[in-house]
Amino acid sequence: MYTTELKERNQAVQGLSLEREDPERLAAFEARVAADDFIEPKDWMPEAYRKTLIRQISQHAHSESVGMLPEGNWITRAPNLRRKAILLAKVQDEGGHGLYLYAAAETLGITREEMIEALHSGRAKYSTIFNYPTLTWADIGAIGWLVDGAAIMNQVPLQRTSYGPYARAMVRICKEESFHQRQGYEIMMTLANGTDAQKRMAQDALDRWWWPSLMMFGPPDENSPNTAQSVRWRIKRETNDELRQKFVDVTVPQADALGLVVPDPKLKWNEERGHYDFGDIDWDEFYAVVRGEGPVAKERMTARVKAWEDGKWVRDAAAAHAEKRGMRIAAE
Ligand SMILES: [Fe+2]
Ligand SMILES: [Fe+2]
Repeated sequence: MYTTELKERNQAVQGLSLEREDPERLAAFEARVAADDFIEPKDWMPEAYRKTLIRQISQHAHSESVGMLPEGNWITRAPNLRRKAILLAKVQDEGGHGLYLYAAAETLGITREEMIEALHSGRAKYSTIFNYPTLTWADIGAIGWLVDGAAIMNQVPLQRTSYGPYARAMVRICKEESFHQRQGYEIMMTLANGTDAQKRMAQDALDRWWWPSLMMFGPPDENSPNTAQSVRWRIKRETNDELRQKFVDVTVPQADALGLVVPDPKLKWNEERGHYDFGDIDWDEFYAVVRGEGPVAKERMTARVKAWEDGKWVRDAAAAHAEKRGMRIAAE
């Protein structure tokens, strides 16, 4: 999901070494991108473009993979069989998104092992949203509705991003994300129309997830080194603030329909702008979570590392099987 905040850290990379590129090839590359042509793995590309994409796609993959953890915690506690089956499918989808994206990044010349190592050692980042805990069942509704909803806002423009394998992965991912958003909203609808205790649980989840969801779009445009380069290369197609505003405009009427209150006293429809005005985001909290100080950041990384280590025998067995098969085919 969840890449905009991470893009900010990539901007510095893009300033690198363009003057060392062959000017003719660079001009031809930029003309193709400007014409909305897709760049494919075997095409020539500037080194800074390749590096920026490796970071962006791998961080996106890490976010999908770590994103399985907050909801995975609730699979055994889903309130009925239908909810359990839906949640299992949803968490599995996120694992699949991670795999498409790791595979897309590998086409740029980095290995899966290098990416995983960067995540586990803390060098690579993932979206801040997954460092918040899931305290009640209503959090599963709020995550689908708000977190997957914000992911869709971020990801729809990426279907037209300039790197072909990334853009094509996003087409499929976006279809699944919209199912995720709807299943979350349906949980919220059930709770909001349930008993007083259920309604309170839904409101509490909205109270806790609203602001971190707005942070998913990354820092405000004025603090975001949104270089002309990134836009010119069609890696970024809409600004953080534009996407955040879109999300607020779409989501507030959905909260109204649920009979829930968005926890922002400054939230107000602005007739003149044709948008909702909303209150200030706590950027100190955002940067603290980016630095790894999120409420459950340590637990998340411990769980990922354990899953990787526990899965070693499966990877070894698959590699041994592939080798044996290869030898058999060669012998035939
Ligand atoms: Fe996803
Ligand atoms: Fe999702």
